[in-house]
Amino acid sequence: MAFLSFPDGSGISDPGKIRTILDPVGVRLERWPLPDNGDLTGLLALERPAPEESERILAFFEPRFDQLRATLGYQARDLVSLSPSLPGLDALLERFLSCHTHDDDEIRYVIEGEGIFGFVLPDETQVELTVLAGDYINVPRGAEHWFRLTPARRIKAVRYFTSREGWVPLYTGRPVFSFPETSRR
Ligand SMILES: [Fe+2]
Repeated sequence: MAFLSFPDGSGISDPGKIRTILDPVGVRLERWPLPDNGDLTGLLALERPAPEESERILAFFEPRFDQLRATLGYQARDLVSLSPSLPGLDALLERFLSCHTHDDDEIRYVIEGEGIFGFVLPDETQVELTVLAGDYINVPRGAEHWFRLTPARRIKAVRYFTSREGWVPLYTGRPVFSFPETSRR
C-alpha cells in the first residue's frame, strides 16, 4: 500500500490521510487488488517479459481498461517494465527525475515492484508518494511532479493514455528536494 514521505523524514500510510493531503494537487489514488492467479504471478516474476508475455499480463487487467475507457475515455494501454537489466534504464529515468508536467493525465496501475512520485503541495512543501503493487494513481494533466525508482529499481505498471502525444515531460525548472531516506543515483 502506498505511503507518503515528508522532507523531515516522517511519513504516513493511512490511505484517507494521504488522499486528503494530495487532493489539492488533484492526484487520485485508489487500491485495486491484483487477481490471485498463479499464471499471473509467474509472468510478473519475469524481469523483462517478451511482447507476447506483456500482452498476457495485460489481459488479466482488461476489465479495468474497459472501465476506464467507458468512464474516462482512455484509448490505449500498455505495460511498462523497468528493471536494472533494461538497456538505457538510467537515461530513461533521467527524463522524469526533474519537476515536470504533462498535457495528459499520467495514469499508472502498479502491478509489481515499486516507484516514487513526487508532488508540490499548495504551500510549496514537496512530498514523495511510494506506490506499490495494487496502487492505481492518476496524476492530472498540468500537475507538477517527478518520478523515480526505489533502490530496488524495479517496477511493472499498466499505463493508460488518451493520446501518446500528450505524454511528454514539460519541465518546470523547480529544484527537487533530496529526501533523506532516498538513495538517488
Ligand atoms: Fe510524469
